[in-house]
Amino acid sequence: MLRSIFLRLSKSNWAYRRITGWSVTRRMAARFIAGEQAEDAIRVVRKLNDQGILATLDHLGENTTQPEDARLATQEVLSMMRLIAEEGLRCNVSVKLSQLGLTLDEELCAENLEAILNLAQELGNFVRIDMEDSGLTERTLQCYFHAREKGYGCVGVVIQAYLYRSKEDIHQLSIRQGRVRLCKGAYNEPASVAYPKKKDVDANYDRLAAQLMDCALTATLPIVNGITPPIPAIATHDPQRITFAQKYAESIHLPRNAFEFQMLYGIRRDLQTRLVSQGYSVRVYVPYGTHWYPYFMRRLAERPANVWFILTQFFQRGS
Ligand code: FDA
Repeated sequence: MLRSIFLRLSKSNWAYRRITGWSVTRRMAARFIAGEQAEDAIRVVRKLNDQGILATLDHLGENTTQPEDARLATQEVLSMMRLIAEEGLRCNVSVKLSQLGLTLDEELCAENLEAILNLAQELGNFVRIDMEDSGLTERTLQCYFHAREKGYGCVGVVIQAYLYRSKEDIHQLSIRQGRVRLCKGAYNEPASVAYPKKKDVDANYDRLAAQLMDCALTATLPIVNGITPPIPAIATHDPQRITFAQKYAESIHLPRNAFEFQMLYGIRRDLQTRLVSQGYSVRVYVPYGTHWYPYFMRRLAERPANVWFILTQFFQRGS
């Protein structure tokens, strides 16, 4: 219920104006966001790399409404990739297709994505396409498959365990050695497309993690024609999901370097360093930029304690 309210507020202009105006929420947001400038993000990534943690950088923004903004967002990703290379960081990038123009003009989006993939290929880097709400799932996967058909191997996509369709999507992706990040899913979805109960999402998460690991084991690991091996990314902070993945990998003899754990910046740092010390690859998703509001609201929605805090502020100040 509270989760759903917060996810609705993440799309409200009225709530945006109020919530981003408070110093308390700006301070809270700083826990999850590296900063507003590229240099802030680079500083955070360098620190993570020094601790043996890989990173993926996300220039915040989504649902772009002007073609020019989609082009500017693309330019930002391109310059960030050049900066990553210049600084010698162990870091790739994550993009949202709605930021690159998917909801405005599919051709423009494909053009922007291609520019990003061309540079990633040239620099030997990798681009992860984040998954947004279910209204964009099919189009996002089609863009991903289209990029793969055009020969881009340096690209991966995200699958959400709360969606009923995900088992079949993973099947289709594994046929093409698709590189998948598995997450639970962060949007407000109806029961017609997504499991409403957390316990069902968790159970599906474990099934899909096993499915991805089986694919990783059977896939040919050497890099062929520039296609990167389908290293599955287990993106969660949930200790039970992580334990399941560790045990399952061991049971099928999948080496620790054949998959990654991924977490969000600012969440469960203790777990990130523990996994690294146990010899697992860990990648942290580091968002930066000025458009932090919807991302921040999704993070609040995941944690009831945060929600109560903000609601109290909201009503105290609003009355
Ligand atoms: P769950 O929500 O059950 O949380 C497990 C535990 O983690 C909690 O008990 C708490 O300790 C901690 N925790 C989780 N969220 C917290 C928060 N906000 N604040 C404080 N503690 C918190 N989603 C999506 O729809 N599309 C995408 O492309 C991505 N990409 C992505 C990348 C990466 C690297 C990660 C880790 C996650 C995503 N997500 C995502 C978000 C994902 O769908 C999900 O909403 C969050 O990861 C929270 O779910 P958990 O798996 O952590 O479990």
